[in-house]
Amino acid sequence: MHTITKPSTQAWGKAIASPAAEFPLTPLPILSGKIPENLRGTLYRNGPARLERGGMRMGHWFDGDGAILAVHFTDAEATALYRYVQTSGYKEEAASDRLLYGNYGMTAPGLIWNQWLKPIKNVANTSVLALPDKLLALWEGGKPHALDLQTLETRGEDRLSGLNNGLPYSAHYKRDPYTKEIFNFGISPGINAKLNLYKSDPTGKILKKASFPLEGIPIVHDFVLAGQYLIFFIPPVRVNALPVLVGLSSFGDALEWQPKLGTQFLVFDRETLSLVSRGETEPWYQWHFANGYVDTSGSVIVDLVRYEDFQTNQYLKEVATCQTHTPARSALWRIKLDPESGKVRQIEPLLDRDCEYPIIPQHLTGQASPYTFLSVHRQGVDVSQEMFGAIARFDSQTQSLTIADMGENRYPMEPIYAPHPQNPDMGWIVTVVYDGNIDKSEVWVFDSDRLDESPICRLGLPSVVPMGFHGTWRQA
Ligand SMILES: [Fe+2]
Repeated sequence: MHTITKPSTQAWGKAIASPAAEFPLTPLPILSGKIPENLRGTLYRNGPARLERGGMRMGHWFDGDGAILAVHFTDAEATALYRYVQTSGYKEEAASDRLLYGNYGMTAPGLIWNQWLKPIKNVANTSVLALPDKLLALWEGGKPHALDLQTLETRGEDRLSGLNNGLPYSAHYKRDPYTKEIFNFGISPGINAKLNLYKSDPTGKILKKASFPLEGIPIVHDFVLAGQYLIFFIPPVRVNALPVLVGLSSFGDALEWQPKLGTQFLVFDRETLSLVSRGETEPWYQWHFANGYVDTSGSVIVDLVRYEDFQTNQYLKEVATCQTHTPARSALWRIKLDPESGKVRQIEPLLDRDCEYPIIPQHLTGQASPYTFLSVHRQGVDVSQEMFGAIARFDSQTQSLTIADMGENRYPMEPIYAPHPQNPDMGWIVTVVYDGNIDKSEVWVFDSDRLDESPICRLGLPSVVPMGFHGTWRQA
C-alpha cells in the first residue's frame, strides 16, 4: 500500500490522484455542435473513483470504490449525475475515515489477523447492467448492487433470485439481442475454483445455473457468446493460494504467469449449460473479448484483445500510483475453433496495435459484426507511461482502422455504441473524455461511421470523472 501519491508525469494521473466528487442531476452545457435528434437514452458508466482514504492509497486500480455516471439524453436537454455505489464497505470506511478492508491488490490494513477476519470489500466498480427496473453495478468477486435507474440511489446487494451461498456475478454478462436472455458466470474460490454459469430472463432473474470444476484458481474476467455456445478461455495464470490464505499477499500479487499450462478453453451449450467440448492452445492472457459468432462452416470465430503475458496486471497496479512504467503490449486477434471437437483451426492477428475495451453494437452480440470499436494509443506515445488517447473503429472486412485522436493530454473512455432507433446499424459513439489540459471531463458524441471527423457534439460535465472501466447504453 502507498501512503503518498507521486506527482504524475503524464496528464492522466491528475484525474485519479484525488477522490472524484459526486454531483447531483445537472443540465450539461453544450460546448460545441448539437445533440443528434434521435440520440435518446442514457449512457451509464462505472469505474473506480476513490483510490485513497485517510491518507492511505489503495494497492491496485481495481481496488477503487465504484461510482456510476449517468448521462440522460432527453428531448429537452442532456443531464448527468455521478454517485458512488453505497456498498456496506464504502459506508463503513467513510464513517471511520480510513481503509478497513483488503481487496484485489491490497491486504487489509493493520495487524495480520485483520486478513483472516475480514472479507474483501465489494467495490462494485467494474461495469453496469441496465435491467427494466434497476441498474446493476457489477464486480466479479461478489454480488451485484441494485441502483435506481434515474437517481442512482443504491438499493443494496441483489441475489437475482439465484446467487445463494456467496455465488459471485461477473462484470461481463452477455445479453442475447433477440431473446433478451442474459448469460453470465462467477468464479467461486477454493483449492480448485469453480466456474458457475447463469442463464437469466430479461429482468435479470436467474432461471438456470450450472457449476464446472477448474484446476487451481485462475483469473477469468470475460467470456464469449457465439451462436448457441458460451465459450471460456482460461489463461495460464493461477493464484499461489498459500500466501493469500495466511494474509501475507493480496490476490492480485499472488497471481503467477504459468505459460506451460497453455490457454485452456471450455465450450458450453447455452440452453443446457453443459460442456460440449474442451481444448488447449498456446499461452496468452486476455481481459476482454470483442465478440464471437458461428460462421457458415460451423466454426466459432472469437475476436479478443490478446497480451503476450500477464504484465498488464502490473501496469494496472501502477495506475493506482498515478505513474506507470511497465509496458503491456496488446493486439486484436482472431481465434477460429471447432466447437464440437474442441480443435483450434486458426489463430491470427487482426490488428497489430495496442488496444483495449473492444466492443461491438449490442444488437450484434453473438453474431458477426462488421465493426469492432476499441480504445487505442495515439501514435508515437510511450505505452508504458500512457493511457489510451484515441478510440477507433476496426473494419474486419477491409482490415482498416478509423481513428478519433483526442489530441494531446486527452483521454477517452471505452467507446459506447448508441444505435439509431430506426436503424441499429447506424448510430453514435458516446465517450467520456478527461481533458488533462484543463482538468475537466466532457461527453463527446461521434457519428459511428465518421470517427475521423470532429465530434458532432461536446458536453461539459460539472467535475472530473476519472477514467473507468465499462459502461452501457440504454435506449429511451
Ligand atoms: Fe472488463
